[in-house]
Amino acid sequence: MSILILFYSRTGNNRVLARHLAGRLGATLEEVKTRHWYPFPRVIWNMRNGRRPAVHPLRVDLAAFDHVLVLGPLWDMHVAFPLAEALHINRAAIGRYAFVSLCGYLRDGQPEAVRVRLVELLGHPPVHQMELHVGDLVAEADRSDVRKVSGRRVIEDDLATFDTQIATISGWFARG
Ligand SMILES: Cc1cc2nc3c(=O)[nH]c(=O)nc-3n(C[C@H](O)[C@H](O)[C@H](O)COP(=O)(O)O)c2cc1C
Repeated sequence: MSILILFYSRTGNNRVLARHLAGRLGATLEEVKTRHWYPFPRVIWNMRNGRRPAVHPLRVDLAAFDHVLVLGPLWDMHVAFPLAEALHINRAAIGRYAFVSLCGYLRDGQPEAVRVRLVELLGHPPVHQMELHVGDLVAEADRSDVRKVSGRRVIEDDLATFDTQIATISGWFARG
């Protein structure tokens, strides 16, 4: 069984999770990369204008994999724009897929909104969907502080906090 993890990470958190899952699942990793430098003000500009940045073509044949796990941050309850762009460009080659985000915190209606976005991008919903929250790694008093949560950089050791969710994700693929 071949598994592809198609991921985007701007500040490293989802890259840490992608590498961990790839090791655990024996999956191939493919990172979405923007064609141009993509600093924070550009993200905000894209957010305000509903635009997505240009991305490099993927180096893998998506159709060659049995499973595709899409992984990346959420921005303002959207799939991070570079990842959204890669999904849209490659929508014809993406059948069944799962979606995971190591994002900030659970916002009201967020999983449902993300599901709607994924259907807009790909034409069909994920077979599995999960959020892991960086907020679980910060002190309880700081969990509603957007800057503290968004500024938290995740390292491999932090992933122990998400053991249960990571086991669930592994189970999706073990069942085939
Ligand atoms: C501009 C911006 C908007 C964000 N909006 C959300 C959001 O709506 N929901 C959420 O759960 N996290 C949100 N986050 C938090 C990121 O999803 C989180 O920090 C993520 O782990 C970053 O992933 P990366 O390091 O792989 O780029 C936002 C972060 C930024 C920078």
